[in-house]
Amino acid sequence: MGSNNFDSLPDASSPSFILTNPTPEELTKVFTLSHPKWGNALSLKDYLARERYLTTVPLSKDGGITHWILTLSSISPGEERPILSSCESIRKRAFYTENGKVKEGVAHGIASVFTDPTYRGKGYASRMMRELGKRLERWQVLGKDDQGREEGKERSVASVLYSDIGKSFYAKHGWRAYESGHVSFKPLGQTSQNGEKKTQGVKEIGYHELAELCAVDERLLKKQLEGLAAQDGKRRYVALVPELDQLLWHMMREDFMTKHIFGKTPAVKGAVAGEVGKRVWALWMRGYYGGKETTEGNTLHILRVVMEDEENTLEKELAEGLKAIVRIAQREAAEWRSEDVQMWNPGQKLKKVLELSGIEEYAFVERDKESIASLMWYGEGEEEVDWVANEKYAWC
Ligand SMILES: CC(C)(COP(=O)(O)OP(=O)(O)OC[C@H]1O[C@@H](n2cnc3c(N)ncnc32)[C@H](O)[C@@H]1OP(=O)(O)O)[C@@H](O)C(=O)NCCC(=O)NCCS
Repeated sequence: MGSNNFDSLPDASSPSFILTNPTPEELTKVFTLSHPKWGNALSLKDYLARERYLTTVPLSKDGGITHWILTLSSISPGEERPILSSCESIRKRAFYTENGKVKEGVAHGIASVFTDPTYRGKGYASRMMRELGKRLERWQVLGKDDQGREEGKERSVASVLYSDIGKSFYAKHGWRAYESGHVSFKPLGQTSQNGEKKTQGVKEIGYHELAELCAVDERLLKKQLEGLAAQDGKRRYVALVPELDQLLWHMMREDFMTKHIFGKTPAVKGAVAGEVGKRVWALWMRGYYGGKETTEGNTLHILRVVMEDEENTLEKELAEGLKAIVRIAQREAAEWRSEDVQMWNPGQKLKKVLELSGIEEYAFVERDKESIASLMWYGEGEEEVDWVANEKYAWC
């Protein structure tokens, strides 16, 4: 598609290329080409509808998402031009530390990096990523300027992406690979604890409870970063903010998918245990690459785990709470045709609580090819940056 008229294209290093935004027609071409790769759980019609719907939901609506293509600068939008490579970025809030203080800025999540099979292996994705890395440094930082351009004088904090092609490709272009492991739990019905239903004292979380939980989480995360910055003012810490819109983006995407795959949407968006002030909770979403007929490629992703007062809550209480929460997640995974439940990059304390919980049959998985969390830092200095709360909620 589109390649036939462009048999002799310049070398990927040529100045003839620009990184720009696709027309609606070009965007449809991009989505149509990527459907076999990422849209197997949906028909092409539903996949196209999902991608359009995802421009209207929290986080990505009102220009929060930007679609990008690499093409020839000599051809005007509206005329037929080659789409050499494509991707998207989503604007997100981020906290970071500087000189012992916590500050807030703009980060960008990059997704859907794709090259038309006819153009692969010619350096076009590499060229696009080089251009994109630079462009995002100033993208949407101060809103629109006088000419309506969304480029500001300040810098973005970082851009993040999740590589499905290993650690080296994006690292070569400036996105450093970070810890990318998860704990995998089996769906209920596939463990030896099948009959056990110890979920007393735990409440399922619905949409209406998210706002309060996300506000508490944001406050606690900021406090955590303040503590880290106070310990070592020279070291850099960065975290994407697990705010309500960030969580809603995942859950509304999930709702679209489940509505089209199963004809219904899940009400249970997470679970919480314990008294206010000492709660432990997890929020999740179901992701589908397989569809209804198979569980392969379908995962219940724990987006975020919060221990409200991890220092002053008895580990035994946290462990019991976590066990019951995971049990609900496992039950949901079974009900919603998922292959497993994944909890990304649990911290030391959470790992300890997990060990104490008595949950059986879970496994630690180190990923070396898929969903490699990667980050480009735009702040001053070349020093290494610690990514705090490197959990699934930051993915797109
Ligand atoms: C990955 C992809 C975007 C690369 O596009 P491209 O224009 O061919 O990329 P380039 O020519 O600039 O670079 C190719 C590099 O990607 C690497 N690459 C491509 N596919 C890869 C894979 N599946 N696993 C590991 N590396 C891969 C090549 O080995 C090559 O490495 P090199 O730079 O060391 O030579 C393209 O193959 C594609 O669209 N794949 C399907 C969608 C996808 O997987 N996207 C990535 C999501 S994170």
